[in-house]
Amino acid sequence: MRIDKLLSNLGIGTRSEIKKMIKQKQIKINGELVKNGKDQLDPDSAQVSINDRPVAIQLTKYLMLNKPQNVITATEDAFQRTVLDLIAPDDLVKGLAPVGRLDKDTTGLLLLTNDGQLAHRLLAPHKHVAKTYQATIDGIVNDDTVVRFKAGVRLKDGTLCKPATLKIISVVEKDNQSEVEITITEGKYHQIKRMFAACGMHVATLNRIAMGPLNLDQALGPGQYRPLSENEIQALLKLK
Ligand code: URA
Repeated sequence: MRIDKLLSNLGIGTRSEIKKMIKQKQIKINGELVKNGKDQLDPDSAQVSINDRPVAIQLTKYLMLNKPQNVITATEDAFQRTVLDLIAPDDLVKGLAPVGRLDKDTTGLLLLTNDGQLAHRLLAPHKHVAKTYQATIDGIVNDDTVVRFKAGVRLKDGTLCKPATLKIISVVEKDNQSEVEITITEGKYHQIKRMFAACGMHVATLNRIAMGPLNLDQALGPGQYRPLSENEIQALLKLK
């Protein structure tokens, strides 16, 4: 990773401030004065000091990705593209991993972090973190479906889901299609597809638009990502 990028990620200063500090011979890596901010260092092993005072390197990354279709939610795979293949080398810090999983054909909000504790909290079943999806359904969703979701859908294998909120956005009877928004507070395997399958319907498209306090940034095109803002990070860390 570039020295100037790492130091600005650590909040030491902007890239131009760091350039100035380098010029003023204030920064050492492994005891050697840094001459060029573009030089590379290994954040896992480098000892950084500023004016001979050591600086702790603790790079915690929180990235919001708009997951595209045809990419799997995994950290590595021998044959298929993974969500980590969409992350630039400078952001690929050790331990970066997706929080939870979206199916290969599901799009939308996916959080990636190397903050294992936060990931664990967000996924813990008893935390009931809400996840909201927009879906196109092959079938006619009506008030009965809404009531079924509210009561908790029983999947075909007998599993009972927790109550979920289903909002009908539009129904086009001639095309046998419905647009809906659905919020669930658990994360069973293929949960939404299986909930609709239990109601005799098929999910044609699925896009996650929110997870806990995070809303998918509409400025992110498919495959694009950005770091979370400080407010977003604080909102996540506040989740009890
Ligand atoms: N439910 C599904 O069926 N698939 C997803 O990717 C997420 C929720």
